[in-house]
Amino acid sequence: MSWMSNNSETPGTRSYQQPSDFRDGLAYPRLGSIGFRRGTLSDNQQARWDKYWPRFGRELDDEVLDVPEWFSREGAKTILEIGSGTGTSTAAMAPLEEDTNIIAVELYRPGLAKLLTQIVLNDISNIRMLKGDGIEVLKRMFPPASLDGVRIFFPDPWPKARHHKRRIIQSGPLHLIANRLKPGGVLHVATDHADYAEWISELVNVEPLLDYRGWPWDECPQLTDRQLLTKFENRGLRMEHSISEFLWQRTDAPDTREI
Ligand SMILES: C[S@@+](CC[C@H](N)C(=O)[O-])C[C@H]1O[C@@H](n2cnc3c(N)ncnc32)[C@H](O)[C@@H]1O
Repeated sequence: MSWMSNNSETPGTRSYQQPSDFRDGLAYPRLGSIGFRRGTLSDNQQARWDKYWPRFGRELDDEVLDVPEWFSREGAKTILEIGSGTGTSTAAMAPLEEDTNIIAVELYRPGLAKLLTQIVLNDISNIRMLKGDGIEVLKRMFPPASLDGVRIFFPDPWPKARHHKRRIIQSGPLHLIANRLKPGGVLHVATDHADYAEWISELVNVEPLLDYRGWPWDECPQLTDRQLLTKFENRGLRMEHSISEFLWQRTDAPDTREI
């Protein structure tokens, strides 16, 4: 396969080459070709990374993940969080859902290093991390109907009109997420960006395999309280932005399209 993460973390190198071609007529953001998520680690972070990343983390790969093997347990629910940033919500929520496997996906290595620190210092057992583009991770590493939940908290808003095509919430990712969710599985999105919230509101019914449940949804089968304000959320609140949250549930209908 041509589009693989580049293990070398040399500043200035491109991390990704060629993204998947979906050819289904839906709109997909092509973030893989944008080399904007670099950053270096402190010596401490690097030492912790070298010691613990092989146990808790993996790079984007073309192999379907063996989730039970990775978490050393069978039968647990699995939730994928795309764009976990520094992992503040991830690390705050995971201890309250210990029966659930949480997989955090992020392009930004310093963010993953911060989450790794939380995992190690607080002995959190139910988080693993994937370094790579969330769309490619879903496409390559998870089979259809394999996830109980997908979370996307405060996705990059890409405010300029010419960058809207980079927004992760659009028809293609929604269809891919629906395909990877089990029937009954949940998609949870939060944003503090008014224009992005409006954009999402216009898309809530675009994917026929996702039933929009709105917010709040008291009967939601999984944790929806993010527990704390992330850096992005705090900034949003300071700027008097309000937070918009969206929940969808995967329908029971079979997905006949290969993706
Ligand atoms: C605005 S930040 C929010 C981080 C975190 N969810 C929070 O609430 O603090 C968005 C994050 O998503 C990551 N990201 C953006 N597109 C992504 C993608 N396609 N796959 C994985 N991560 C992505 C960015 O690197 C960034 O860390």
